[in-house]
Amino acid sequence: MREVVAGAVISNGLLLLAQRSYPPEVAGLWELPGGKVEEGETRARALERELAEELGVDVVAGEQIGVGVPLKADLVLVALLATVVGGNPEPTEHTAVRWVGAGALRQMAADGELVPADAVWLEDLAELLT
Ligand code: C5P
Repeated sequence: MREVVAGAVISNGLLLLAQRSYPPEVAGLWELPGGKVEEGETRARALERELAEELGVDVVAGEQIGVGVPLKADLVLVALLATVVGGNPEPTEHTAVRWVGAGALRQMAADGELVPADAVWLEDLAELLT
């Protein structure tokens, strides 16, 4: 089973969202940024590496939030809390980034603006933001 790890990066009570640029099915939708865990890598290390690569930000990964979400038969998506320890997120692979509170997050979910897999974590995330 391969894993994709996504970061619930929370700073000053706001959650970091990144807007996908590909593939076409999810381009324009917003996600918790992350990527695939490589062979021999921990989830935490993978998340720290991916956020440095994609957003130029140094984070420290923490505990898992929410449930694992199956993406394919052999691929599961997990979310870890993460704290920024250096830098300011600047999108390189994403179209944009934004910081949202619980209200804006709920509105985006209601409007279908979140990547479907990540929408599963709505209540877990909203709780962390209130
Ligand atoms: O970002 P990347 O393309 O490496 O992600 C691998 C897979 O995980 C894709 O299918 C992507 O849609 C999915 N994913 C997701 N939610 C995230 C991050 C990735 O559904 N927060």
